[in-house]
Amino acid sequence: MAQIFKPSANTIAQVSLLGGAIVPLSVGLGIAALSRSPANTKVGVPLNQPVPFSHEHHVGQLGIDCRYCHTSVEKSAFAGFPPTETCMSCHSQIWTNSPLLEPVRKSYETGTPIRWTKVNKVPEFVFFNHSIHVNRGINCNTCHGAVNDMNITWKGNSFQMAWCLQCHRAPERYLHENEADTAAGLTPRQQVFNLYWKFQQDGVKHLDAHEQDLISGEDPVSFDKDEIAKGRKLVNKYGVKTQQLADCWICHR
Ligand code: HEC
Ligand code: HEC
Ligand code: HEC
Ligand code: HEC
Ligand code: HEC
Repeated sequence: MAQIFKPSANTIAQVSLLGGAIVPLSVGLGIAALSRSPANTKVGVPLNQPVPFSHEHHVGQLGIDCRYCHTSVEKSAFAGFPPTETCMSCHSQIWTNSPLLEPVRKSYETGTPIRWTKVNKVPEFVFFNHSIHVNRGINCNTCHGAVNDMNITWKGNSFQMAWCLQCHRAPERYLHENEADTAAGLTPRQQVFNLYWKFQQDGVKHLDAHEQDLISGEDPVSFDKDEIAKGRKLVNKYGVKTQQLADCWICHR
């Protein structure tokens, strides 16, 4: 069969591909410098919020599923914030006189959404998608820290490129499957949420070492050889494309 492209076309294609990548990236460089505002870089610092919402209360103690409030996290790129109606499904009946909840009641009456201060953000030129991570069984705490412990939400990790890459270069360390959960027929995604449920039921008692690290926000999460070997099997099982994960176009499209 006749060749459609001459070998040199390959080089031309590569050069123009590179050009295509460098222009948006160098624009990105400037934006990245701007985006390093304190609110966007400080790890571990609780930010001011219009209502002192506590994940420790609502998740760690009451055991409300993340998806009750962050409804789109397993289906879309964004986790999203809950509308005031979600809060009022409980707070129209309980804690109705709490002064701390005044802004919530006001928002409900006036129909003006609460403006939460954003804690986690990547620059515009970075592509991120929640659903693929959650569907591969990566726990929220791996990236966000011990959310179940947060009285006022803070940023759990730097979210800089090197941080994304250290996982993308060796994701087997972070994939996790508990044998008991697997026997119960849970998918990786369900196990992400099951961890919080188990923790709320009886604390760290029935959690394995890796799960305990996740729940306590230990960083780096400890790995032993056995766990890494298990992780490699999971990479195959979940069909993770490890050869491509560190390529520029994955995150800069
Ligand atoms: C009862 C509702 C509710 C539940 C349940 C809940 N959240 Fe939230 N979450 C919120 C609200 C409201 C905010 C915005 C205020 C804040 O940052 O604390 C938020 C913010 C966050 C943020 C920071 C978002 C940003 O600004 O970048 C993360 C991360 C987060 N939640 C993770 C979780 C995880 C993980 C779970 C489950 C373990 C969970 N949430 C369960 C209501 C909830
Ligand atoms: C499933 C029910 C439920 C939902 C939904 C819920 N809460 Fe709560 N919330 C509670 C309960 C129960 C308490 C009391 C916790 C305690 O002190 O033990 C509480 C306490 C609070 C408090 C502390 C009140 C005080 O005076 O100490 C705030 C603030 C609060 N919630 C905000 C919110 C916000 C904002 C949302 C929506 C994002 C929300 N809650 C959604 C059940 C809920
Ligand atoms: C692989 C890392 C990673 C995992 C796992 C992860 N997140 Fe995020 N999360 C991020 C990044 C990065 C952002 C900032 C996204 C942006 O700026 O577009 C973010 C932002 C958020 C926000 C702010 C609103 C939004 O959608 O941007 C919420 C809420 C949130 N995450 C909740 C969760 C919950 C709940 C889980 C688990 C079910 C979870 N995240 C799992 C990395 C992660
Ligand atoms: C703890 C490990 C981990 C961290 C941290 C992480 N990722 Fe991922 N990421 C993965 C895995 C696993 C996949 C799934 C790859 C597959 O199945 O082929 C993935 C896939 C992706 C994809 C491909 C989505 C698609 O639709 O093809 C993008 C984009 C991505 N990650 C961006 C990011 C960015 C940006 C960050 C940092 C803010 C980040 N990731 C942090 C593990 C991680
Ligand atoms: C796993 C996701 C991911 C991959 C793969 C990735 N990047 Fe990034 N990149 C990011 C994130 C996240 C930022 C934003 C960093 C910040 O805000 O500090 C970024 C920022 C940048 C910037 C802006 C300057 C800076 O350092 O903040 C440049 C330039 C860049 N990346 C180039 C590249 C090149 C070239 C490649 C391929 C070798 C690549 N990136 C691969 C996630 C990724």
